[in-house]
Amino acid sequence: MSQLADPFGLRSLDIEVLRTRDGAKWQSRGGRYAAWVADMDFPVAPAITDAMQGVIDGNAFGYPDWGGPYALSPAGRLFAPRMADRYGWEPRPDRVRDMVDVLQGVRATVFHLSNPGDGVVLHLPAYHPFLDTVELMNRRLVPVVRAGGAFDYDALEAELAGSGASIWILCNPHNPLGHVFDRPELERIAAIAERFDITVISDEIHADLTMPGVTHVPFESLGDEASARTVTLASASKAFNLAGLRWAAMHVGSDRMQAVLAGLPGHYLGAPNLMAVTATVAAWTHGDQWLSAVIDVLDENRRALTGLLAEHLPGVGYEPPRATYLAWLDCTALGLGPDPSQTFTARGVALSAGPEFGPQGEGHVRLNIATSPSVLAATVSAMAG
Ligand SMILES: Cc1ncc(COP(=O)(O)O)c(C=O)c1O
Repeated sequence: MSQLADPFGLRSLDIEVLRTRDGAKWQSRGGRYAAWVADMDFPVAPAITDAMQGVIDGNAFGYPDWGGPYALSPAGRLFAPRMADRYGWEPRPDRVRDMVDVLQGVRATVFHLSNPGDGVVLHLPAYHPFLDTVELMNRRLVPVVRAGGAFDYDALEAELAGSGASIWILCNPHNPLGHVFDRPELERIAAIAERFDITVISDEIHADLTMPGVTHVPFESLGDEASARTVTLASASKAFNLAGLRWAAMHVGSDRMQAVLAGLPGHYLGAPNLMAVTATVAAWTHGDQWLSAVIDVLDENRRALTGLLAEHLPGVGYEPPRATYLAWLDCTALGLGPDPSQTFTARGVALSAGPEFGPQGEGHVRLNIATSPSVLAATVSAMAG
């Protein structure tokens, strides 16, 4: 592969080098192939490493000069223009907050805007830390389940009419399904949230990872009413592969959450990390060429996976994700029991176990396709044993 065709080295990853890479993905589970946690195998954009190197070269690791100890970071200041530029949504710059990570924003909102026993709405299967949030914080799960391939909002409304809910954690785009909620579906969600007075936490961490031809619609962009009951969370960490650096943005459309945050002392929810902010600014300012090269590889991989599964694991159900680099595989036809990941682990492939994503995940696994096409092919071949 010439460097010209692969300027960022996305298609030519060496499996032996990956196996020596530090971090949970490749080191914590053993096995010959690591396709579980949502980190990409790709090297990050050179613009990011250059910017971080600049901090190292300047030997400037002290408190940053961002306009005072409680001032919004430069990454936070870029959030509103970036949303306007990419998605036509104009967030309120005065409502943007730095967070340490997305889950912090999710859990802080659940903690402050609901009480133990309150309902929390989640589309199932659900990203497991959301399920943990409900359980660890003693809230009550109000599931949205699929019927005939689509989420059943009539059933949800019937349930809410009986039991109510305080919070809806909306994961758009959706992990693990790769589903992208379009405007009519988001409008239905907004109408239900309004009818039952539910605060929406819109986790849009995967927004930049929509596949070609697919449009991400920020929930708050639906209008003032939707925005006023919503907290949006975003980060460069998934699309630019920076999860270990720890930074996220919260946009506080909700006046109730704004009042909560205004009542908390500064730094109560932490303060941003210099390197994470440096990396995010570089990603959002100079990273889009790299990002579109990544999307090209992911698009190729999600299409190739259909053929790879047909060849090596016929019977596995798979719908190519419309966003994210996560493939949700229905392995029930293989007869591997409720947790097929155990069989694949025994064959040397680490995948995310379907049941972690709720009971709907039984018989399923989540496969991370953010790697070179050749590594993906070898991974699927190894899954077949
Ligand atoms: C939907 C979703 N939200 C949040 C996170 C975690 O984000 P953070 O590390 O910023 O808490 C992930 C990580 O994979 C995710 O997929």
